[in-house]
Amino acid sequence: MRVVETVAEMRQARAAMGGGVGLVPTMGGLHEGHLSLVRRARSADDHVVVSLFVNPSQFGPKEDFDAYPRDLERDLRLLEAEDAHVVFAPSVEEMYPPGFDEWVEVRGPLTERLEGAFRPQFFRGVTTVVARLLRIVRPQRAYFGEKDAQQLRVVRRMAEEQRLPVEIVGLPTLREPDGLAMSSRNAYLTSEERQAALVLPRALELGRTMVECEGVRDADRLKEALADCIRREPLARIDYVAVTDYETLEELTVIDRPALLLLAVRIGSTRLIDNASLIPGGSEATEELRRRGGFST
Ligand code: PAJ
Repeated sequence: MRVVETVAEMRQARAAMGGGVGLVPTMGGLHEGHLSLVRRARSADDHVVVSLFVNPSQFGPKEDFDAYPRDLERDLRLLEAEDAHVVFAPSVEEMYPPGFDEWVEVRGPLTERLEGAFRPQFFRGVTTVVARLLRIVRPQRAYFGEKDAQQLRVVRRMAEEQRLPVEIVGLPTLREPDGLAMSSRNAYLTSEERQAALVLPRALELGRTMVECEGVRDADRLKEALADCIRREPLARIDYVAVTDYETLEELTVIDRPALLLLAVRIGSTRLIDNASLIPGGSEATEELRRRGGFST
């Protein structure tokens, strides 16, 4: 496994690669969720590049850029064990050299709602750094988790708008045995908060049962029930509970097609997001998606 720290070295390493190249962008603090993306790339691509870069431009001024978990040695050990070929771990100056002015932005409701409403600079930071990584590494495929469902859809849109010749692959959320979605930020939780955080998977499960088993179609009724469930946990504060179209993330009033249930909840001072697909039986779109084997979560 080769570790490169400069853009020039990364371009050189890329130029020497024949066959298919897969990129897994990460901010490090690696866990099994990240490694599942690396494994998929390893099985689909001839060369796998993993980037480790805590991207300052996607953090707000009051967010956790400084505190974000960084352990390069541990991350490299984990990636070595997965047989990644190249790890790209650039400095902030490499990714944002003096005078940097190549901001890449997706405009419109897709980036303004949900995470965009709570973290105004977030998607601009993500699309800028991912576009830059894609232009440096030039992979045929890049891998992202459904855990960050809105980010995945925004990155897809960005790649289309920028006409980047890459397939954006979305992969299912990996969870701890008790259901909590794996996240680098779980490391911030105290043991009491870790227990309280289970309210997220519990609420998602309740949502699924209401829609898929009990036939609930009224989005407001669903959201109220989930908000009640979350409020019963004293350490939890809701940022949003949303029910949207599965692909476009447009808010739904009636759950009459494949949908996504998205949660953002603060547990103490740690902000967690999670989501689940909702597949109401009987709708044409659902049946069509089922035929195509369409759901990744
Ligand atoms: P990071 O939070 O490190 O996540 C890197 C990738 O791992 C993302 O595509 C994310 O969706 C995926 N991931 C995180 N938790 C997961 C889980 N439990 N199961 C499966 N996949 C999971 O997301 C970012 O970094 C950054 O915004 C980045 C895209 C690297 C741009 O800076």
